[in-house]
Amino acid sequence: MPGLSDATRGRILYGGDHNPEQWPEETWHEDVRLMRQAGVNTVTLGVFSWAKLEPRPGERDFGWLDRIMDLMGEAGIGVVLATPTASPPPWMGHLHPDTLPRDEEGRTEWWGGRQHFSHSSATYRRYAAAITEDLAARYAGHPALTMWHINNEYCTYDWGDEAAARFRDWLRDRHGTLDALNTAWGTAFWSQGYGDWAEVMPPRHPHYLKNPTQVLDFKRFTSDMLLECYAAERDIVRRHSPHLPVTTNFMPLWAGQDAWRWAEEEDVVSVDLYPDPRDPFGAQEGALVQDMTRSQARGPWMLMEQAAGAVNWRGVNHPKPHGLNRLWSLQAVARGADAVCYFQWRQSRQGAEKFHSGMVSHAGEQGRTYQEVTRLGADLARIAPHVTGTHSTARIAVLHDWHSWWAGDQEARPSHEVDHPGMLRAWHRALWQAHLTTDFAHPEHDLSAYPLVVVPQLYLLTDTAVDNLLAYAHGGGTLVCGFLTGIADEDDRVRPGGMDARLRDLFGIRTLHEWWPLDAGETVTCEGFRGTLWSEELDADGTADATTPYKGGELDGLPAVLRKGRAWYVSTLPEPEALRDLLTRIATGAGVRPVLDGLPDQVEAVRRGDLLFLLNHGREPVAVDLPGTHRDLLTGTDVTDRVTLGRHGAAVLRP
Ligand code: GAL
Repeated sequence: MPGLSDATRGRILYGGDHNPEQWPEETWHEDVRLMRQAGVNTVTLGVFSWAKLEPRPGERDFGWLDRIMDLMGEAGIGVVLATPTASPPPWMGHLHPDTLPRDEEGRTEWWGGRQHFSHSSATYRRYAAAITEDLAARYAGHPALTMWHINNEYCTYDWGDEAAARFRDWLRDRHGTLDALNTAWGTAFWSQGYGDWAEVMPPRHPHYLKNPTQVLDFKRFTSDMLLECYAAERDIVRRHSPHLPVTTNFMPLWAGQDAWRWAEEEDVVSVDLYPDPRDPFGAQEGALVQDMTRSQARGPWMLMEQAAGAVNWRGVNHPKPHGLNRLWSLQAVARGADAVCYFQWRQSRQGAEKFHSGMVSHAGEQGRTYQEVTRLGADLARIAPHVTGTHSTARIAVLHDWHSWWAGDQEARPSHEVDHPGMLRAWHRALWQAHLTTDFAHPEHDLSAYPLVVVPQLYLLTDTAVDNLLAYAHGGGTLVCGFLTGIADEDDRVRPGGMDARLRDLFGIRTLHEWWPLDAGETVTCEGFRGTLWSEELDADGTADATTPYKGGELDGLPAVLRKGRAWYVSTLPEPEALRDLLTRIATGAGVRPVLDGLPDQVEAVRRGDLLFLLNHGREPVAVDLPGTHRDLLTGTDVTDRVTLGRHGAAVLRP
């Protein structure tokens, strides 16, 4: 199978989404000049070009695409060619209303925006396959083409009639019989028993709470339907160009797709990443998504989109201060990216994204954005030969599973202050602040390579996943689990005793009596630290080696943290510093050290291959002590014993 290295060929891909159809052709030549000057070596074409390519049903207009592909080819700029299927032309919805999705209240999602397609619509799929077929046949052999990009950020749901029919088929495959479905969904509750498949619906707007397993299965179904759409187009382009890698871009930590499953179907895993420049934890958000994407890719990955400056979709859209675009781009490379790309090359003058930055902003060549983009292009070219194809290594795995997210984050749960992504962020943040690099893994993956496995929260665990965690722990691994883990089986049925019995045994818990969730801002005192969000009334069974008790209040004296051998259970969310310290202690016990000792708080350090990346996330310059002499590949100079990083500065050091 082809991979990212077939497209990078030793370079870091640098460029972005390019929408030449929004510009007169004179601008195309100016674009090429500016791209070359900035070191741009790749553009993604065609993402939203369907109406231009197929102005009327079955008609084709490839002339403009031929010209821009040739122009890019002559300029030595590779093309990632997208299938345009994320935004069907208006004629499609007009002629075929069955292609339009419905929301849960039955309202149609109309054309005029984008992504107004029903994943279940046979008509949509037929048109999507036809345009993909013609695009692939025409450009498969084009010398500029380096990769295929299918659709864009698959993210639609559909509660409509055709989706309902497909949902029933999907449920038949999953459950076999209606009896099995009734059992899995627990339809004895509230008189929901189904007597005929025709009665089974997507979870449409009800009078009161929905059936949680119906919702869970609908999310599984949606992810699978979108994956079918992706795979159909992928198979077409692969048939025409088996030598070219195929990708589709994920949204970061997006609830709608089981990205573990999807990543198996891609040659290149790519993601779009837009941390808020004002968010004090923006860099950690980036690190989390990068760690997750690298883990899905099991190696180098592609940063498909980021913003060179401001986005346009937050309440207040802040630009990136001087140096931040470079810093966050180098962070992605440190954490395994072999491609640093943007939405988009040239900022639009019209349309809903005209106030979203581009690599070339409205200010043009003299604008700060383009100037910084040009500097970064030179930096990436300098480090590329030492970086591409190498791996960032981590000895800690954080477990995450979409199915657990889908089951756990529903209505009518014990606390809406607690959610799956929030827990992932909190635990990853503690590890990030401790300068401990992490991979992510699925709870059924082989974990034996990691000395430490961290489970922020896995509300739903399959029997196989429980087996896997137990095998890992009994095999000598150190396992740390947060609360609300192992509560439900794969049909979201609460496990006897309220938490998986084998896990209770692993941690030394006899009885989990009650959950005591906390209000926002409320804390609970534990010996040596304070807990937030959650606390638990549980009895130890006397087999734990150590327990840290709650102090005062209803839970006084009961265990807040239990350790039995190398297995840890944490029944609250310790305040950030306490969680960082706890995880540092546990990691040390498992033989896992921070990347460097004594690092200033605002400096992130990551090892990739034999390189050490140092990234200053602070606005003040900072010095890092580092014994020995290293070559800074960004400046081409040697540094001895101490590295000084300017505001948002970075160093890429080779021993
Ligand atoms: C992404 C999308 C791009 C653009 C960008 C703006 O989600 O793929 O097409 O809309 O957001 O930030």
